[in-house]
Amino acid sequence: MKVIVAVDLNWGIGYRGNLLERIPEDMKFFKQMTLGKVVIMGRETFESLPGQEPLKDRINIVLSKSETFNTKKVTICHSLNELFNELEKYNSDDVFVIGGESIYSQLLPYCTEAYVTKIENRYVEDKYFVDLDKSKMWTLVSTSDPLTYKDIQYSFEKYANVNERMHEKLHF
Ligand SMILES: NC(=O)c1ccc[n+]([C@@H]2O[C@H](COP(=O)([O-])OP(=O)(O)OC[C@H]3O[C@@H](n4cnc5c(N)ncnc54)[C@H](OP(=O)(O)O)[C@@H]3O)[C@@H](O)[C@H]2O)c1
Repeated sequence: MKVIVAVDLNWGIGYRGNLLERIPEDMKFFKQMTLGKVVIMGRETFESLPGQEPLKDRINIVLSKSETFNTKKVTICHSLNELFNELEKYNSDDVFVIGGESIYSQLLPYCTEAYVTKIENRYVEDKYFVDLDKSKMWTLVSTSDPLTYKDIQYSFEKYANVNERMHEKLHF
C-alpha cells in the first residue's frame, strides 16, 4: 500500500474541506499514479470530489462509520478491519491512500512508499500530514528538479518506510 499527498511547507494539506492549491501538473501526476488502481479515502474527501462522483477508472473505497452514508457508487468500509478484509482482493502495490488527514494518519504505518508533492508555500490550513522529514520511520529516496507553476515552486518527492516490522505485517 502506498500513500500520495500534496503538502505545503508546514506539511499542511487542506483548509475547510478543500485542497490548499491545485497545480495542474500535480493533478496529472496523481491521475497517472492512481489510474487503474485502488484508491482509499475518507468520507470527507469523497464528498469534496467534484459532483461527489468517484474518481474515474479507479476502484474507489471510502471509509465511513456512519450508517446513513450510503451510495452504490463506491465501496464503503466502516472500519479499518473491514478495509483490510476488502484489500485482500488486491495486490498491495496497486493500493493508494489518497486522504484526508484522518485516513492518512491511520494508514500511514501500513504504507511502504509515500509520493509527496512538496509545495514551497505557506497557506492558511487546518489539516496536516505527518512531517516525514522528522519521522524515523521514513527516509527520502528521490526528489525531482524544482518545478514552477505561476509563482509557486514545487517538487515531487518519494519516501520509503524503513520500519522493517511494517513489511512483515503488511499481508492484509
Ligand atoms: N493535499 C492532499 O493531498 C489532500 C488529499 C486528500 C484530502 N485533502 C484534504 O484533507 C481534508 C479532509 O481530511 P479530514 O481528515 O477532514 O477527512 P477525511 O480523512 O477525508 O474523512 C474523515 C472521515 O472518514 C471516516 N473515517 C475516518 N476514520 C475511519 C475509520 N477508522 N473507520 C471508518 N470510517 C472512518 C469518518 O467518516 P464519517 O464521519 O462518515 O464516519 C470521518 O469523518 C480536506 O481539506 C481535503 O481537501 C488533502
